[in-house]
Amino acid sequence: MRDTIMVTGGAGFIGSNFILDWIRDNNSPVINLDLLTYAGNPANLSSLVNDSRYQLVVGDICNSSLVATLLETHQPKAIVHFAAESHVDRSIVSPESFIRTNVQGTQTLLEQARVYWSELDEANQRAFRFLHVSTDEVYGSLTASDPPFSEITAYAPNSPYAASKAGSDHLARAYYRTWGLPVLTTNCSNNYGPFQFPEKLIPLMVLNALEGKPLPVYGDGAYVRDWLFVEDHCTAIRTVLEKGRVGETYNIGGNSERKNLDVVHAICDLVDEMNHNTSLAPRRNLVTFVNDRPGHDRRYAIDASKIDRELGWHPKEGFESGLRKTVRWYLDHPAWVDSVRTGAYLDWIRQNYTERVAP
Ligand code: NAD
Ligand code: DAU
Repeated sequence: MRDTIMVTGGAGFIGSNFILDWIRDNNSPVINLDLLTYAGNPANLSSLVNDSRYQLVVGDICNSSLVATLLETHQPKAIVHFAAESHVDRSIVSPESFIRTNVQGTQTLLEQARVYWSELDEANQRAFRFLHVSTDEVYGSLTASDPPFSEITAYAPNSPYAASKAGSDHLARAYYRTWGLPVLTTNCSNNYGPFQFPEKLIPLMVLNALEGKPLPVYGDGAYVRDWLFVEDHCTAIRTVLEKGRVGETYNIGGNSERKNLDVVHAICDLVDEMNHNTSLAPRRNLVTFVNDRPGHDRRYAIDASKIDRELGWHPKEGFESGLRKTVRWYLDHPAWVDSVRTGAYLDWIRQNYTERVAP
């Protein structure tokens, strides 16, 4: 076994932040297996093109012979599995790819990891890790007075995306319980930060606010998410990889519950402050309430006390400072923004928002 780690989905939002963070602090090489779907952008990792520690393999996690060959060739000490279809609204429009990638793809990876791991010697078997990156959406929805999700909260996924991630979590657990594959699972709350694809709330609102477009807030805007700056998520994953107990799950969250409308207002104020086109201010006037997401989860909140108590991780970035950095990043990277807003992206925006007229 070598010092290498294999990352899946490393050209996406969290995966690319994770790889940049890893390479900054580590000498161990990274193999990034990514299909480069609409959400995968190799430009996120352009700073690593001449770095011998980094290699991108364009391919599908559902391709078992490719996964087997990569494991055999690179002999990784760990797999960090980010690859997924990740957008709830897309899972409502077309769920099939969510089942394929999130359920079948995860099973393919687990199975090939099991075959590879079973042939390692005992010391390497003990050292190997499969870290499955998952979401708090598997727990369903909270009311305003419910306690936050803990690791023993019952699963109750409400969207096809959440159901597919729940299925992948159960498979990860089964590979540990049945064969002893050293699996760790993390369930994290909403991330935000650089390189997030502008289909998700925060980057979509930043770019629409900048351009003076309507800001489409679903339903009454009082839905609550628990926001975590992406760099804190990356640190948490590294901590679990290094110190987590195999077979365990760890919840990761930002202790930053916010109503969507408050997040959108905060973005408007930051864009007003940072952008000189004062004719669009106050951008709060751009807020447009639109038809709700079917099955919309009212509130997510994470109890992250286990990872803090056992592994000493807690978030470093506050929401207000993290949001400020994020808005700044989008304003400073117009070329990146142009490169991801392709024809397919514009088709999605038309599909998702044209019929979402005001209720
Ligand atoms: P993303 O959509 O930005 O990136 C997903 C990446 O996976 C892309 O690079 C894409 O090309 C790749 N991919 C998709 N299908 C693939 C396949 N079949 N084979 C290989 N690669 C494939 O997603 P993200 O927001 O970075 O999320 C990463 C992971 O973290 C996901 O598993 C997601 O469920 C989980 N997660 C996300 C959040 C969040 O707020 N974004 C929070 C908690 C957990
Ligand atoms: O909780 C973790 C999850 O967070 C991850 O597992 C998912 O991959 C990630 O996409 C995210 O899911 P959400 O559905 O919470 O994120 P999204 O950015 O799509 O929406 C955040 C909230 O904002 C949600 O309540 C819906 C609302 N929203 C979203 C969009 C895109 C709007 O009001 N308007 C919008 O245009």
